[in-house]
Amino acid sequence: MASILVTGGAGFIGSHVAEAFLRRGDSVSILDNFNPFYDPALKRRNVETLAAYPGFRAFEGDIRDAGRVVDVMRDARPDGVVHLAAMAGVRPSIEQPALYADVNVMGTMRVLEAAREAGVARFVFASSSSVYGNREGEPFRETDNVDHPVSPYAATKKSGELLCHSWHHLSGIPVTCLRFFTVYGPRQRPDLAIHKFAGLMRRGEAVTVFGDGSTRRDYTFVDDIVDGVVRAYDRASGYRIYNLGGSATIALRDMVDGLAAALGVVPRVVHAPEQPGDVRMTYADVSAARRDLGFSPSVPFAEGIRKFARWHVEAVR
Ligand SMILES: NC(=O)c1ccc[n+]([C@@H]2O[C@H](COP(=O)([O-])OP(=O)(O)OC[C@H]3O[C@@H](n4cnc5c(N)ncnc54)[C@H](O)[C@@H]3O)[C@@H](O)[C@H]2O)c1
Repeated sequence: MASILVTGGAGFIGSHVAEAFLRRGDSVSILDNFNPFYDPALKRRNVETLAAYPGFRAFEGDIRDAGRVVDVMRDARPDGVVHLAAMAGVRPSIEQPALYADVNVMGTMRVLEAAREAGVARFVFASSSSVYGNREGEPFRETDNVDHPVSPYAATKKSGELLCHSWHHLSGIPVTCLRFFTVYGPRQRPDLAIHKFAGLMRRGEAVTVFGDGSTRRDYTFVDDIVDGVVRAYDRASGYRIYNLGGSATIALRDMVDGLAAALGVVPRVVHAPEQPGDVRMTYADVSAARRDLGFSPSVPFAEGIRKFARWHVEAVR
């Protein structure tokens, strides 16, 4: 039984990751600042679910606060860290670049440094498909050039990967960076398109599609991401970067139709210009994660979107 610190553990992906470790008998501490990027009551509800498990502890604090992070590490005494706390989202990072840099770069550095001091045995970092920048064509591979991010968010995630490398180099701690591709499922962040659209469609309101609907995303069901995170944690060695994606790319207009069908509604769509910072396509090549981690995404979009819709109808008023 391991003891794991999950930063950002009150959030969408973090709460699912924490639950997966708790379910198999590990003890889990989370560190989260419950910030108001979206309604903190949703994060408190996620924590209530986790509190039902023995071996769960919640610490409130900001990853930018070096003293607090060190204290939490001392108290929680984790064997390993899964670092998911971040300011997420492309468009808001254009409005508040300094905040994104502060949390995602300085905060990540604080967590790495406290983990090194605490002598943890492994470290997993949540990176993002956005590091690949604006491209089309072939699926994205970890060996591709990622020197051209097109949003502050993407630049901070690439910076996080670089910090992870230097801390691994200096401390020898195995560090794995995981590039998540558009994650969806129960407890999804309300600012993300699928969740936002579901609310609008259920209220009979129009959804705004940026561009002509031809942009494509590799939507990844949260259970597949969690499986990849747990595998990466268990097998951490050296410094590694892996894509975690569904490895199928879906056009925005097909996502809208699939979601509407899952909710049993006819969508009303209005179009607006494409947004700065958005990329045309994401598409994960997951052969490295498949080979090294045994990762195999198993929830096709048609199934995942039905599960999401069911959750939305039950959990969101
Ligand atoms: N959701 C996706 O599609 C996606 C895609 C790629 C990468 N990611 C990455 O995965 C991670 C989790 O994303 P999510 O979608 O669950 O987002 P989320 O916002 O639900 O979770 C992030 C959590 O981190 C916490 N947090 C933020 N700033 C903090 C700070 N300064 N100190 C302590 N806690 C702080 C938030 O309160 C939140 O609970 C993030 O690192 C994100 O960048 C997500």
